Amino acid sequence: MTPPEPAPESAALFARARAVTPGGVNSPVRAFNAVGGTPRFIRSAAGAWLTDVDGHEYVDLICSWGPMLLGHAHPEVQAAVSAAVSRGTSYGTPTEPEVLLAEEIVDRAPVERVRFVSSGTEATMSAIRLARGFTGRDVVVKFAGCYHGHVDSLLASAGSGLATFATPGTPGVPASSTELTLVLPYNDRAAVEQVFAEHGDRIACLVTEAAPGNMGVVPPEPGFNRFLAETCTRHGALFVSDEVMTGFRATRQGQWGLDGAVEGWRPDLVTFGKVMGGGFPAAAFGGRADVMARLSPEGPVYQAGTLSGNPVATTAGLTTLRLATDEVYAHIGWAADTIKTAAAEALTAAGVPHVVQSAGTMFSVFFTDPADGPVRDFAAASRTDAVAYAAFFHAMLDRQVYLPPSAYEAWFLSSAHDERAVQTVLDALPHAAAAAAASQGTR
Ligand SMILES: Cc1ncc(COP(=O)(O)O)c(C=O)c1O
Repeated sequence: MTPPEPAPESAALFARARAVTPGGVNSPVRAFNAVGGTPRFIRSAAGAWLTDVDGHEYVDLICSWGPMLLGHAHPEVQAAVSAAVSRGTSYGTPTEPEVLLAEEIVDRAPVERVRFVSSGTEATMSAIRLARGFTGRDVVVKFAGCYHGHVDSLLASAGSGLATFATPGTPGVPASSTELTLVLPYNDRAAVEQVFAEHGDRIACLVTEAAPGNMGVVPPEPGFNRFLAETCTRHGALFVSDEVMTGFRATRQGQWGLDGAVEGWRPDLVTFGKVMGGGFPAAAFGGRADVMARLSPEGPVYQAGTLSGNPVATTAGLTTLRLATDEVYAHIGWAADTIKTAAAEALTAAGVPHVVQSAGTMFSVFFTDPADGPVRDFAAASRTDAVAYAAFFHAMLDRQVYLPPSAYEAWFLSSAHDERAVQTVLDALPHAAAAAAASQGTR
């Protein structure tokens, strides 16, 4: 194997990209700022493998941050997409693939109706507008560490006390956009009870990742989602479950398949993205028929999109979901279990403190002290040793494994991660664990 260093073509492209694009990337995490070094510019991908512009191959553990459930360039998805493209790419009229994809989603997920949009950000933004329009209330509750896209009102940092309203989480968001947002610690029932006791009659909705994956994977404690749903119902607020990441990935039915379907509750609204677009820009929000009926043109709450329900994107999503059988989830589950067990063994052998957590087939490795217990909220996730992760990441990259370039992300797999791909990861892990240990020893 040729180590994928140096990467002169990627470095040259990165320099050119930085001259014309902020940070050289079109979404910040891709820039390697958290781990240092040069992001690899990918030229092509097939199955579980990425090929960069320098000709190096990597096992892909990013999977486009979730969408590529079947791996890259799946022949049946490609064929369906090519056929769709040959019929024209966008008409701005209703089409059959939209109906078929909506029916597929309604069949799998706890929603009666769906509306398509082009990104997860749009889905959560629209769901919140609908919740406000439906309830006639303004306040939104979210959890620290949950990411719902770059919606102004959700780019919020916790106020000074639990029941104090949030402050902007980034320059560019006016205080007026976050002054109706409450930010709480995840998995904290007492905090939820307190804000509903104080503000319950003003709360339009509580929005949460169905299982947070944007601070690393922090699963809801048993019964937590049901508690949230029941609390919302008791106070006349809507429970918005963000399944953009977990939907059709954590399980066939998303995270809801692990708790709602078992415990017998349903969210009022759900947001979807990633897998349901099959690698194209497609997302959706859906839910109770009476709530969705408030949406324009049936109801008064406005929402629209030029490329919403695009026929190529919905064809890719539909083909992906139809191919996502129980066997696909079983295979991804096998690959996830094999890799996370080996990662834990390698880190233990190297003496690197760590905690591995999962939600269905999604998992992540925290470089935190297991003596501190499971990572149950953002404060605990923030204690991960990002320097050790950077050393681990680069050692994996040198051995042909492309991990997420940030310590706070889930590791994603696909049905194309076969024994060769998984073995490549297993072979790299002891070296990466040793690199992480060395980084801790040098501090
Ligand atoms: C849970 C969740 N919600 C919403 C979003 C936003 O989706 P998009 O990047 O498509 O706007 C993301 C993106 O990672 C996400 O993970």
